[in-house]
Amino acid sequence: MKVDFFHHNIAAQDRKALDKTLRGLFISTGGEVKVFEEKFSAYLQVPYTVGVTSATAALHLALEALGVGKGDEVITTPMSFIATANSILHAGAKPVFVDVEPDTGNMDAANIEKAITKKTKAILPVHLYGQLCDMKSISAIAKANKLKIVEDAAHALEAKRDGIGAGQLGDAAAFSFYATKNITSGEGGAVTAHSKKVYELLRKTRTHGMSRDASERYGRAFAHYDMDVYGWKYNMSNIQAALLINQMDRIETNLKKRQKLWKIYLKELQGVDGISFPAIRDGARSAMHLFTLWVAPKRRDAVLRKLQDAGIGVSAHFLPIHLMRYYRENLGFKKGMFPNAEAIGSKTVTLPFYPDLTPAQIKTVTGTLKDILASF
Ligand SMILES: Cc1ncc(COP(=O)(O)O)c(C=O)c1O
Repeated sequence: MKVDFFHHNIAAQDRKALDKTLRGLFISTGGEVKVFEEKFSAYLQVPYTVGVTSATAALHLALEALGVGKGDEVITTPMSFIATANSILHAGAKPVFVDVEPDTGNMDAANIEKAITKKTKAILPVHLYGQLCDMKSISAIAKANKLKIVEDAAHALEAKRDGIGAGQLGDAAAFSFYATKNITSGEGGAVTAHSKKVYELLRKTRTHGMSRDASERYGRAFAHYDMDVYGWKYNMSNIQAALLINQMDRIETNLKKRQKLWKIYLKELQGVDGISFPAIRDGARSAMHLFTLWVAPKRRDAVLRKLQDAGIGVSAHFLPIHLMRYYRENLGFKKGMFPNAEAIGSKTVTLPFYPDLTPAQIKTVTGTLKDILASF
C-alpha cells in the first residue's frame, strides 16, 4: 500500500500508560475510566460522561436511558453508518428517516417536523464527516414537540457550530473510539449527558444494571451487589481508558495538523473537473474526521477500485441505511424515498486522512485521482 487509509495516533506516552495499567490490579472498569470520563466532560464542556465499549453501545444506552422503547419512533438520517439506525432497533423502537441537505449530507432540520407523529420520542442527528448539524434548529423543534435529542457525534469530537460544541444541545451524545476515529482505543465509546438522573442510570445500565462495579466492591467492607434496573454489558475498561487519556491532550494539535492537510488536498484538487466537495457552513468548525469528495455516480465504483489498485486506501461514507437489504426487506424502505441521501451514497469517495499523512502522500493520492478521472 502506497498510502494507507488510516493511521492511528497512539504514541509512546499512551503505550506507557497502557503498560502501567496492565501492571495494576484492575484492567476492567475502574480508576482510569473515571479519569478519562472527567477529562472528556471537561473537553466537551458537558456535565457527565460514561465510558462504554462503542458508539453503538452509547447510542443504545442513551436511547434506553431517555425512555425510548417498544412502539416509539426515532427520527434520524439514512446518511450514516448502520450503527445509527441499528441502535434504534436495539432499543425496540422504529427508525424514521428524513432526507439530508444535498450539499452537506447532514439531516435537514426542515424535514423533521413533518415526520413527527404521536409515537415520536426522540431525534437522532448525525454530525456527518465532522460537521455539526444545525443543532439550534433541531433543538428548537425538539423543545416545541417535547422530544429528546441523542446526537451521534462519532465523527464530531472537535466540532463547533454557532458557538456550540458536540453534545452541548442534545440530552445525550455518543462518541466513538473505533480504530479509525480521531482518538482511539481500537474499540470504545462514550455517552455524555446533562441530567444527573440520566447519568446515574447510564452508569448502571452499562454494567447489567448493577449497583456497584467490581472496583467499587473491592477493598471496602464486603457488600453484595444488587440489580434494580435492566442493563447491558457495555462498560469501558481501564485498558481502553489508559490508551485514551493522553490522546486527549493531543486532540487540538492533531486537529490543526488535519486542518493544514485539508487545505493541501483542496489546493491540489482545485478546479479538477468531475469532483465536488461537501459544503462546510459559515460559523462551523468541522472536526475534519473524513476527507470525502463526490464524483459522478457512474464513475464512483471505478474510482474506488482504481485508487485501491494503485495502492491508495479508500472508503465510501456512506451507502444510505434505508437501502441496506435488511432495512428494505424488514422495514419496508425502498429506493427513491430519500433522494438526497441516495445521491450522496452513489457519488461518495473517502480518501486517506490522518495527522501523520504527509503533503507528498497527498500529492500521490491527488495525482492518482486526477489521472483516473482523466482516463474516463
Ligand atoms: C456516524 C457513526 N455512528 C456510529 C458509529 C459506530 O461507532 P462504533 O464502531 O464505536 O460503535 C460509527 C462508526 O464508524 C459512525 O461512523
